Amino acid sequence: MSAGTPVRHLLRDDDLSPVEQAQVLALAAAYKREPYAYRPLAGPRTVAMIFDKQTLRTQSSFAAGIAELGGHPLLVDGALAGIGVRESVADVARVLDRQASAVVWRTYEQSRLEEMAAWSRVPVVNALTDDFHPCQLLADLQTLAEARGPLPGMRVAFLGDGACNVAASWLLGGATAGMHVRVAAPDGFLPGEAVLGRAAEIAGTTGGSVAATTDPAEALADADVVVTDTWVSMGREEQAEQRTAVFGAYALDAAALAQAGPDAHVLHCLPAYRGKEIAAEVIDGPRSLVWDEAENRRHAQKAVLAFLLARSGQLPAEETAAVEDVVAAAGVPDPVGA
Ligand code: NVA
Repeated sequence: MSAGTPVRHLLRDDDLSPVEQAQVLALAAAYKREPYAYRPLAGPRTVAMIFDKQTLRTQSSFAAGIAELGGHPLLVDGALAGIGVRESVADVARVLDRQASAVVWRTYEQSRLEEMAAWSRVPVVNALTDDFHPCQLLADLQTLAEARGPLPGMRVAFLGDGACNVAASWLLGGATAGMHVRVAAPDGFLPGEAVLGRAAEIAGTTGGSVAATTDPAEALADADVVVTDTWVSMGREEQAEQRTAVFGAYALDAAALAQAGPDAHVLHCLPAYRGKEIAAEVIDGPRSLVWDEAENRRHAQKAVLAFLLARSGQLPAEETAAVEDVVAAAGVPDPVGA
């Protein structure tokens, strides 16, 4: 292990450069091919997982993935710990980094995660905040690469709450992958200017593009992939009625899917509300990739944990070499030489 290497975190999608994102996806593909062959967390090393919001896929996929990497998933009960209430985020960070090799946190404000990362000597991974869901995006990109091939140039339509965490991650992560991401949402729920601007900046370097519109047909035209998410994200429950009233025209039903490209695939991070943001015949139909998408959370998150630890100089030399060998074998350029 090398002391002095800066600690790498995944707090938002643009914490990975385009080359690094491709490297993480190459690792994820290798880990999926041989789920028990790579053990960078052997020891076992502990990864702390904290959930301040509900979870099914994230908790189960991190726990299973950490175990497959040879590690120990430690569930820290966010309510019992009382982070920011019973003790400060800074103090929690300085306790957990003495126990664990990485911290995975699902919480509300992005600023809480940023504060944790600022104090933590081990990688911090965003397991969903109000603003971003980067682990979901990596799983989504892995799923599309498997189903459709190379990501650059792929056209993505996101319908629904354009201001939600998943839409923001699509803008940043899709642009990083060189995709064309169009978000269709009602007025008042369009993506924020800061995220759109940053995504456009990234797209300018990758050959991708980003756009936001209130017209679903505009986003759907020629789309290779149609993505949606709940209209009522966790923490917004009190706005459920108001939101359901304005999102109807953005539902991903058979008529909407017919406006996309002829072989377009469908993604949804789940949980899904059939008959609201997505029709049962679409999510349960032949174009849906949602179960692969849910599975790929495990592979993609294993990859990101191994990658961050390796690039932070926090793995034994032979485990770092194993990570870099997979990356090299995939033919993704080394960022040092890029
Ligand atoms: N936008 C949703 C994603 C759930 C995985 C939420 O934040 O609730």
